[in-house]
Amino acid sequence: MARKIVVTSGKGGVGKTTVTANLGVQLAKSGCRVIVCDLDFGLNNVDVVLGVENLASFDVIDAIEGRCRPKQALVRHPHYPNLYSLSSNRISERYVSPQAVRLILDTIAPQFEYILIDSPAGIDEGFHRAVACAEEALLVTTPHISAMRDADRVGNMLKGYRLTQIGLVVNMVRGDLVRRGEVLTPEEISKALRLPLTAIVPEEDKIFLENVLDRGKSFKQLANYYMGAKPEEESERKYSGLLGAFFKGLKRG
Ligand SMILES: Nc1ncnc2c1ncn2[C@@H]1O[C@H](COP(=O)(O)OP(=O)(O)OP(=O)(O)O)[C@@H](O)[C@H]1O
Ligand SMILES: [Mg+2]
Repeated sequence: MARKIVVTSGKGGVGKTTVTANLGVQLAKSGCRVIVCDLDFGLNNVDVVLGVENLASFDVIDAIEGRCRPKQALVRHPHYPNLYSLSSNRISERYVSPQAVRLILDTIAPQFEYILIDSPAGIDEGFHRAVACAEEALLVTTPHISAMRDADRVGNMLKGYRLTQIGLVVNMVRGDLVRRGEVLTPEEISKALRLPLTAIVPEEDKIFLENVLDRGKSFKQLANYYMGAKPEEESERKYSGLLGAFFKGLKRG
């Protein structure tokens, strides 16, 4: 039975879709069967990030409304055979209940190991629908004050759900800003938000972003975390490794 992990944030544009897609790719590359499910109705773009936007015949609303079987709404990734995309291409006029989405996910869950759910930013209806479908959550923030403030609100909301774990990804970390003390360190952010630091993702330059699906080390470590590496060992290794790199000035100034 698949673990269902929702990826959320307070502020928009902090990297939820990037984290969801890249974590999906890394888990799939490690041999796990993964669905990346887009529940960001209206602003959905997981299929675009995964490069499968032209391959879907059906979406999750089609499955909910009975126009296809749940499995038919899945698109197998052409490069990563263990990775499937479940898109939400249409804006439904009708109210979509969390129960309806959960039923679809529960139907396909037995054949997969992970269902990663990309959720809308904020704490509106779409957030509640996405979180109600999951057992675990991953909160994404950047080190910027506005993102952290919104993340705090979402973190507190998440703590009100019956989730087995809530992790924290600090994305777009710039070593030069950390070094100069202009932003909080990922560890300080984790303390401020009272959430365990699950991953640190450096800000990448534009050229690297073109290869958005294989961003490498940080997401591989995040995938290893979910595949059962001991959380303490993983986070310690990640933290010292990445911070070490920052202080050596490997990032651009
Ligand atoms: N670590 C990173 N370094 C550089 N750019 C990044 C990084 N992570 C994400 N981005 C870029 O930031 C932009 C926003 O990322 P993304 O779409 O993943 O955010 P989001 O939280 O899903 O946004 P939304 O709230 O609109 O759904 C994208 O252009 C993405 O490529
Ligand atoms: Mg997004």
